[in-house]
Amino acid sequence: MASAGSAVGLGNLWRFPTETGQHGGSAFLIVYLICVVCLGLPVMISEFVIGRSAHVSVGRAYSVLVPGSRWKWVGRLEVLTPFLILCYYNVVAGWTLRYAWESATGGFVKMASSGAGNAYESFFASFVSSAWQPVVCLFLFMAATHFVVVQGVSKGIERWSKVLMPGLFLILVFLVVSALTMSGAAEGLAFLFKPDFSKVDASVVLSAMGQAFFSLSLGMGILTTYASYFNDDADLGKSALSISAIDTFVAILAGMFIFPAVFTAGVAPSEGSSLLFIALPNVFQSVFGDLWILSYIVSLAFYLLLIVATLTSTISIHEAVTSYLVESFEWSRRKAATVVSCLCGSIGVLCALSIGAVPELTIGEMSLFDAFDYVTAKWLLPMGGLFITLFAGWRLSKQILLSEMTNRGTKSFALFKLLVFAIKWFCPVGIVLVFLNELDLLSF
Ligand code: PHE
Repeated sequence: MASAGSAVGLGNLWRFPTETGQHGGSAFLIVYLICVVCLGLPVMISEFVIGRSAHVSVGRAYSVLVPGSRWKWVGRLEVLTPFLILCYYNVVAGWTLRYAWESATGGFVKMASSGAGNAYESFFASFVSSAWQPVVCLFLFMAATHFVVVQGVSKGIERWSKVLMPGLFLILVFLVVSALTMSGAAEGLAFLFKPDFSKVDASVVLSAMGQAFFSLSLGMGILTTYASYFNDDADLGKSALSISAIDTFVAILAGMFIFPAVFTAGVAPSEGSSLLFIALPNVFQSVFGDLWILSYIVSLAFYLLLIVATLTSTISIHEAVTSYLVESFEWSRRKAATVVSCLCGSIGVLCALSIGAVPELTIGEMSLFDAFDYVTAKWLLPMGGLFITLFAGWRLSKQILLSEMTNRGTKSFALFKLLVFAIKWFCPVGIVLVFLNELDLLSF
């Protein structure tokens, strides 16, 4: 459940629709599903096997399994990536706070009654381009994450989130049903589900692969660390299957309410980061109309739950970096967490400003925010996945793999040969081909 909690987050609700919108809708969805099944599942199982057989968190897992080898660098790469992700993930996490606040103070209800068609769009644009609002929100979110990580109370949050996540799920289903009554529903669903393979190109494949890794929390050792806490009788194959299924289902639900709302509001689906934040208030308004009190309650509940879902993800990312520093440098937890929060917070401010008040903050053609997202999600995570499968397939003994998949021979695992093939050959070759293709070194 905790692994599913880490997996479900802004990746499903914010990043999935953004990527889908920018890469042609259904074409992206199909490639995404293929990536989840063919790459995501084997990588997740590999992370589980490494974590449960090493019994330590990812920073040290490789050194424990093959002492003194260069594989420890993979463990280090898997710490750098979450550090970089935290820098920009927190920016969007901060947005959820702002939206919860606006719901709580009745701002959205007022916007609805003002009758201006694009009120939500202008609200988002002016919030993001403000020089201080996104920065304050980012700090508040980082402070909350920091507090939880320092106090080591994440167990409490996880317990909470197990109760609250079904609530989020119910509201999502409600949003989908409501969105289906909107005037743009048919267009939105066609965009998401009507296959058009002519739109599949190299960048679609790279993006879909990156999104699969991001959304399933793969390629940075977080699930390796979680698996080191698994019971000996946990079924690794089944756990991987159910986590992937839950995560994918939530992403598709998100698409099913966001695209109808986006088409109804007349916003371009390729709009980018703003989709979730423009679509949502639109759905609330159109469902409840004049019943503003209902709209008030449901939208506030939604944003509060979104904050919890996001917090479980930021905690797991922060924790991954902090625990590495604690273990490797023998720093106190407080010192390690403070260093991580201050560094990520400062870089996060630059990321936040780069898509708003200071557009000059760019790397190449991209804003700093987009550059962080591009490098981590599209390159570093799949690269982490590549090394993980190479390790599990070629370095780890097959005996360990078999013993973990069958819980030391106490149960059968029929697909073992297929799994070994996927881990040894299919995933590494597949990931490298996608990379080469993106670099224009291949043309398919
Ligand atoms: N998978 C999370 C999401 O979908 C993000 C995340 C990535 C969390 C990596 C932990 C580690 O939002």
